[in-house]
Amino acid sequence: MTKLTYYTATTLDGFIADPDDSLDWLFRQDQDEKGPLNYEWFRAGLGAGVMGATTYEWILEHEDGKWPYTLPMWVMTHRGLKPPAEPKGPVTFASGGVREVYDEMVAAAGGKDLWVVGGGDLVGQFADEGLLDEVITYIAAVTLGAGRPILPRRLDLELVEATQNKAFIAARYRYVGPLTEDR
Ligand SMILES: NC(=O)c1ccc[n+]([C@@H]2O[C@H](COP(=O)([O-])OP(=O)(O)OC[C@H]3O[C@@H](n4cnc5c(N)ncnc54)[C@H](OP(=O)(O)O)[C@@H]3O)[C@@H](O)[C@H]2O)c1
Repeated sequence: MTKLTYYTATTLDGFIADPDDSLDWLFRQDQDEKGPLNYEWFRAGLGAGVMGATTYEWILEHEDGKWPYTLPMWVMTHRGLKPPAEPKGPVTFASGGVREVYDEMVAAAGGKDLWVVGGGDLVGQFADEGLLDEVITYIAAVTLGAGRPILPRRLDLELVEATQNKAFIAARYRYVGPLTEDR
């Protein structure tokens, strides 16, 4: 069955970017790219992905306007964002409920898994619909005090795997459901 995974890196205090959308704190960390829960291993199982507008704009800005993904990607936005020039893979803009996008991604993925890139609220929208399956995160030994939250919802997750990858804790969680206290 197709699995939807939020694969991301976070600070110890739960931010995936600083308030100015900087990831400088992340890119200076030491990691073994062949180590546990690495991106190449994760990418090999994927058939489609989805991200929010801020993440889309960040990627284009930091990749000189080039779109790096061969994977079919959906971008959630209310705006008329410009499509990337000469993308390596298809980019589809969508807005509104995430269930319809989820169905389109499953159809495109050919039995492979799905990646929700972020941000945190978009992942929350999938969780709200009961469509999130797991969270894999690299936890950096950094605190920022403020920034873009990893997952601004009240949820229960089950820790499935946790190990060190150089400067990070690499952890995998299964999504359980809304926080027990809220049920
Ligand atoms: N640490 C990591 O590994 C990692 C991973 C991913 C992202 N990031 C970074 O984290 C930050 C995330 O930014 P963010 O929190 O603003 O989240 P985001 O999900 O990238 O962007 C949020 C925006 O997406 C659009 N959107 C979200 N849901 C929508 C829906 N259902 N329908 C239509 N539009 C929708 C809205 O934009 P509009 O209404 O303006 O169109 C919303 O303001 C970025 O800086 C990104 O680079 C870091």
